[in-house]
Amino acid sequence: MQGAQKLMNVFVTRRIPGEGMRILSQCETCKVSLWDSDEPIPRSELLQRVSGAHGLLCLLSERIDAEVLDAAGPNLKVISTLSVGFDHLAIDEIKKRGIRVGYTPDVLTDATAELTVALLLATARRIPEGVEEVKNGGWRSWKSLWLCGYGLSGSTVGVIGLGRIGMAIARRLKPFGVEKLLYSGRTAKPQAAEVEGEFVPLDKLLSESDFIIVSCSLTPETQGLCNKAFFSKMKKTAIFINTSRGAVVNQEDLYEALSSGQIAAAGLDVTTPEPLPTDHPLLTLKNCVILPHIGSATYSTRGIMSELAANNLLAGLSGTAMPKELIL
Ligand code: NDP
Ligand code: DGY
Repeated sequence: MQGAQKLMNVFVTRRIPGEGMRILSQCETCKVSLWDSDEPIPRSELLQRVSGAHGLLCLLSERIDAEVLDAAGPNLKVISTLSVGFDHLAIDEIKKRGIRVGYTPDVLTDATAELTVALLLATARRIPEGVEEVKNGGWRSWKSLWLCGYGLSGSTVGVIGLGRIGMAIARRLKPFGVEKLLYSGRTAKPQAAEVEGEFVPLDKLLSESDFIIVSCSLTPETQGLCNKAFFSKMKKTAIFINTSRGAVVNQEDLYEALSSGQIAAAGLDVTTPEPLPTDHPLLTLKNCVILPHIGSATYSTRGIMSELAANNLLAGLSGTAMPKELIL
């Protein structure tokens, strides 16, 4: 009975890969409850079920704000998110309450960089359009300019946010024969030397790049960064790729830029909202390739993310060093 009183309540907001759940279920000092679904927990259920939790394991689609923290109550010691992005967490509120935060950097970098390269190539070389033409009978003969796109060889690539994922994208793109790699952000990065990256003002990156890749985090400064003015500075032949967060882009302005020929094409792994409604205007454009936020979606990456998220949570509950703690 005494032991039972010491159990700490853990709430997991969605099914996560087995690797992580196994770790949580082996915790002898925890009582783990799970929203046992692959679908997001309704807000009202979240507010109810989080009550009394000492630890909360959430996904990027749960907004963890003052309302949720109030609903959880004063026991809450740790929030562990199954993501590297933490824009869904109200960091100021969390910090004010002395709650620790775990997240999943590094382990998803390779998978996300790989997907970004795949999306870039699919967009630039019009692969979804080509596949569609094969299926719908549009492929009648070999034509000299049909389905032509843009290649990386000899190109200038601009990376906005040369962080962990931005660097991993740059490393993968260089061997395609990229001539010049530009990057922008808040600070120059010493590691950019490895990819011969040149730190430049955003305007220079926009006007000179053939491919622009957004891999920065979503912050108040980056929210809506890619807007009408941004697209108007790009080359008409340039390709825009976003695998960071949808809110970095003003989607109305992107639609305008794509449909008017201001820019050549866009590839997005992230949108606002998610999922993007199937009647969204961007989905009517052939020069816009949209994926359902699958940057880190390999079996092994998601398994490792869930292990890390579980271990972060348990470390936070026991007051020890987390494998990956977000320093608030
Ligand atoms: P990092 O923190 O390593 O990199 C973030 C980068 O954003 C930093 O280089 C930072 O530059 C840059 N940045 C911050 N503010 C600005 C700004 N105002 N202008 C330009 N750049 C800025 O994070 P990761 O590389 O690990 O992840 C980046 C993001 O990718 C995540 O936050 C997440 O949103 C997204 N992501 C998406 C996935 C998907 O499935 N599509 C998968 C994983 C991540 P500086 O250091 O100079 O501040
Ligand atoms: C993240 O981790 O932030 C991604 O968006 C999903 O893996």
